[in-house]
Amino acid sequence: CLTDQSSCGCCLIQKQMQRLEEHFNKTTEELNKEVTKSKTALQNITSRIAFSVTFTDTRFLCYGPFRDDKPIIYNNVFLNLGGGYNVGTGIFTVPRSGVYTIAISIYSDAGAAGSLLAACASLQVNGQLVAASTDKNSYDQEDSATIVVVLQLRAEDQVAVNLLKDCFLCDNSHYNTFSAFLLYAAE
Ligand SMILES: *[C@@H]1O[C@H](CO)[C@@H](O)[C@H](O)[C@H]1NC(C)=O
Repeated sequence: CLTDQSSCGCCLIQKQMQRLEEHFNKTTEELNKEVTKSKTALQNITSRIAFSVTFTDTRFLCYGPFRDDKPIIYNNVFLNLGGGYNVGTGIFTVPRSGVYTIAISIYSDAGAAGSLLAACASLQVNGQLVAASTDKNSYDQEDSATIVVVLQLRAEDQVAVNLLKDCFLCDNSHYNTFSAFLLYAAE
């Protein structure tokens, strides 16, 4: 450009073109970033995590009482989207960080076990008590209770239900359930 004055106009056009190209390149890059972000957000929205489990038996059966707290293993799986519930251990391992709704229903029948009624269970996250329900009364025969909580959980958190010591739960019609679902994903 400096040495050949006659090519100056052409040179300017070339520089303009180069700047335009840079601009388009940058815009394309930014658009691609936005597309990636949107795809991730969409994945978060559409990821399905939900499980619902219950005691397995249709025969009348009681679990407990024991001298210590014991994890409850729900054998009958209605639903296990995302595969977080482990039917061998009874533990729900959170597949993805987010806000979860968790519900537990328990039932006990003193007549069935021949001992004083004691329907109690607790919800544990990583071995820490989050919520519990207890109903001990020697004068009535049946009790049921429900716990519902909404919690912010992190991926790999372990959610379990414990039978509290000296308590027992009974079932023959899926009276005892443990369910949770991802309300929305969040880091
Ligand atoms: C724009 O992107 C193309 C393709 O990636 C590349 O070949 C070119 O050198 C880039 N231009 C500028 C000015 O950065």
